Amino acid sequence: MRDIRSLLRESKAFSAKLSEIKKDNPIEGGWYGYDIMSNLVHLDRLLSGENRSIFDRLTSKAVADIGCADGDLGFFLESLGFEIDFLDWPATNWNGLRGVQRLVELLDSNAKVHSVNLDEYFALPRPHYEVVLFLGILYHLKNPFYVLERLAKSAKYCFVSTRVFRVAPRGENLSLINVAYLLGADESENGDATNYWIMTEPCLRRLFHRAGWDVLDFITVGEQRASNPHSIAKDERAFALLRSRVAG
Ligand SMILES: C[S@@+](CC[C@H](N)C(=O)[O-])C[C@H]1O[C@@H](n2cnc3c(N)ncnc32)[C@H](O)[C@@H]1O
Repeated sequence: MRDIRSLLRESKAFSAKLSEIKKDNPIEGGWYGYDIMSNLVHLDRLLSGENRSIFDRLTSKAVADIGCADGDLGFFLESLGFEIDFLDWPATNWNGLRGVQRLVELLDSNAKVHSVNLDEYFALPRPHYEVVLFLGILYHLKNPFYVLERLAKSAKYCFVSTRVFRVAPRGENLSLINVAYLLGADESENGDATNYWIMTEPCLRRLFHRAGWDVLDFITVGEQRASNPHSIAKDERAFALLRSRVAG
């Protein structure tokens, strides 16, 4: 059986191969600057019980990697036999989608790359996905409720990660309250104006529920005492596996 721990192990060789390929093939704008494959370390911590072998038990092989950046994780899943649709938006993507498109060529991949702006009304390439990867993108969206509700209609499971916070910028501890903090365009210490809604854990859980999802597993990583919505040192991320209550 291929559980998340064995996927994590197998991913090391794939990551090394991708690094070589990227080093040998520079692209305009540069390759995405963060380690996408490290998401698997967090998924290994996240998943419990039978969820640890979720990729083994999927009945359909269609996976959407939404907010894919250069697509490393989706390409890894493709190497395991999954059919991947990549969705991202050139204006927000590190290299205008050149990275993921170039990797399709270099890896001789069958994956499809779709330019989709989730800040507008959008359509998904397929009516149904067994799994959606929705990692590191929710807090970049203007309308998180709409997008999560839309995805719940088309996907059975969703892996999601997003930034969360406990303490407001002026020091009030809001960690037990259902609130979201809307960042100003210049408020995030990393200078990224596309950081919008940062929620407390209870708010995020309530959003998942109201958008049509049950939470199967949930963890947070990073700063776990005094995380705030804006600083680099006080960054906390939630990872969750969700199951839709409404997908057909
Ligand atoms: C922080 S990266 C996450 C990369 C990868 N999924 C990971 O977890 O490592 C966020 C990605 O979301 C994409 N994104 C942000 N806003 C978007 C939007 N409105 N529509 C589509 N994609 C968007 C960005 O272009 C970027 O590639």
